[in-house]
Amino acid sequence: MEYEDVIIKYKHALSKATAEIENILDDVARNAGRQVVYYTDTRIKSLKSLEEKCNRKDLPVDKIEDIAGAKIVVLFEDDIKLVCELLRTAFVVKKEDDYLDTAKENGYRAVHLTIVIQTTVNQRQVQVPLEIQVKSALADALWSMEHVVKYKNSSPDPEAGNIITAAASRIDELNQDMIKFRDYGH
Ligand code: GTP
Ligand code: MG
Repeated sequence: MEYEDVIIKYKHALSKATAEIENILDDVARNAGRQVVYYTDTRIKSLKSLEEKCNRKDLPVDKIEDIAGAKIVVLFEDDIKLVCELLRTAFVVKKEDDYLDTAKENGYRAVHLTIVIQTTVNQRQVQVPLEIQVKSALADALWSMEHVVKYKNSSPDPEAGNIITAAASRIDELNQDMIKFRDYGH
C-alpha cells in the first residue's frame, strides 16, 4: 500500500481532533481569564521516520500510535495539568505517559496522551490513535534543540547528554520562578 493510502485516516483524525482541541483551548483561556497556550502544532509522521520507527521497534504500521500527532505548548508549566484535565473529559484516552511529576532520565518533562478518534474513511468507520504532547514553552525550546542536534548526529557524546540534563534542570527552576512571578500580588 502507498504511504498516502496508509496515512489518510490519520489525516482525517488529525483534522477532526484539531478542531476539538482548538475549542477546548479556547475554553481554557476563557476560564483562566488570560493566555494559557503559547502555540499548538500538528504533524503527520513522515514516511522516513515511520519506517525508521517500525524497524527500530519491530512493529507493523498499525501498532504505531503517534503517526498523527498534536503538540500543545503552554506558557506556565502548571497549566499542563489544567489542559490535560480538559483533554481527558473531551477525548477517549487510551494511554497516558506522565513525564511531568517524574521526568525521563534525561530530564524530559511532558505529558503524552494517546487518544482515539473515530472517523470515516471510504464510508467505513475507523478508530484512529493520535498522540497529544503537552509541555511548557521553555521545555519545548530545549527539547526542540536537542532533537535537532540528535538528528544531525546519530552518536552524540555522553558529555552532550550531561549538558542537556543539566539544562533541563535549570529549565525546571525557571518554570518554578515564572509561576511565582505570575502569582505575585494574587
Ligand atoms: P518514540 O515515539 O519512538 O520516541 O518512543 P516512545 O513512544 O516509546 O517514547 P515516548 O512516548 O517517551 O516519546 C515519544 C515522543 O516524545 C518522541 O517522538 C518525541 O517527540 C518526544 N520525546 C520523548 N523523549 C524525548 C527526548 O528525550 N527528547 C526529545 N527531543 N523528544 C522526546
Ligand atoms: Mg510514545
